Amino acid sequence: MPKLIDKFNREINYIRLSVTEHCNYRCFYCRDAEHIPNCKREDILSYEDIERIVRIFAQLGVSKIRLTGGEPLLRRGIVKIAQLISNIDGIKDVPLSTNGHLLEKFAGKLFDNGVNRVNLSIDSLIPERFNEITRGGDVNEVIKGIDAAITSGMHPIKINMVVMRGVNDNEIESMIDFAIEKGVDIRFIETMPIGSAGIEATSQHYSEKDILNRVNKHLKNRITPMTSSKTDGPAKNFKIDHSNSTVGVISAVSSHFCQTCNRVRITAKGDLILCLGQEDSISLKDAVRSDRSDDEIKKMIIEAINKKPEKHEFNSSIDNISNRQMAEIGG
Ligand code: GTP
Ligand code: 5AD
Ligand code: SF4
Repeated sequence: MPKLIDKFNREINYIRLSVTEHCNYRCFYCRDAEHIPNCKREDILSYEDIERIVRIFAQLGVSKIRLTGGEPLLRRGIVKIAQLISNIDGIKDVPLSTNGHLLEKFAGKLFDNGVNRVNLSIDSLIPERFNEITRGGDVNEVIKGIDAAITSGMHPIKINMVVMRGVNDNEIESMIDFAIEKGVDIRFIETMPIGSAGIEATSQHYSEKDILNRVNKHLKNRITPMTSSKTDGPAKNFKIDHSNSTVGVISAVSSHFCQTCNRVRITAKGDLILCLGQEDSISLKDAVRSDRSDDEIKKMIIEAINKKPEKHEFNSSIDNISNRQMAEIGG
């Protein structure tokens, strides 16, 4: 089986596929309050486009397709998309990243159609605060979504919390307790300066070091580092002793995890984005809607992967930061 190896010798085996730019929440670090996606139906990858693109990537060694958005559960036909993707030869892992608001309705159907696991965002367990951060969300709906995911058989279930000083950092401990009680995993994320909303929110930056100090203090150092597998995302994970849960940190700003990057993104409009924190992209939609053969598209993808940047430039210069909205890229 051929593999996609970039010029820094990183194997690309993980795609974050955004299926819609729309979202029913407006987390203030992710999108501007007034941002409305500008996309017509014909601009968005169709079932056929998605199937062909994923099949070509699978033939190039990609085995993990994460469904992202916007909010992926808003995409009409999301269950069918999951089914199409999970039936493609070589695809072994089809996780979902969701805000969880509609998960109660979808968890069972998605699991039955190949979505084996889910990551959900919860930035606060306090209903009023959750509502403010998400500009309208309801944490109780998300908790019902977690329960439905547990019942469906999805595993593991991971909670993502973007930690912001003075906004929700006093909930690190209660979030760990909540995760242990539910038997799910928890990952704390440093705010990334992506898009105008993200750039603004990084003034409330809370570092990996501070997060880990708090985690260790709360759990009395009873955590054990875990090794990651080659298709894992960027989190550093620890097993919480005497529990079914793990705790992780995603520290895009404090420490570069780019040396081990294994992923690229595809937007809902079919652009292949080579790095979250860089501008480079090529249109896969144009390619699959042209008369190019699969082999020609493979060649195009191999050439694009060869241009994947070494790392993001979050730390060095704000001018280098992608001005895309995080919500368009899918995180
Ligand atoms: P697993 O497959 O479960 O390991 O998930 P994941 O961490 O790859 O996916 P998820 O959608 O839960 O993303 C969690 C956080 O990690 C989000 O804030 C993403 O934006 C961030 N993230 C994921 N991949 C990258 C990356 O390549 N670079 C950076 N800087 N952040 C990333
Ligand atoms: N910084 C860090 N994480 C972010 N996410 C969205 N915007 C940002 C940002 N600026 C996270 C969401 C979700 C994941 C897919 O991306 O909280 O957990
Ligand atoms: Fe990979 Fe870019 Fe993310 Fe770094 S920022 S891990 S290079 S996608």
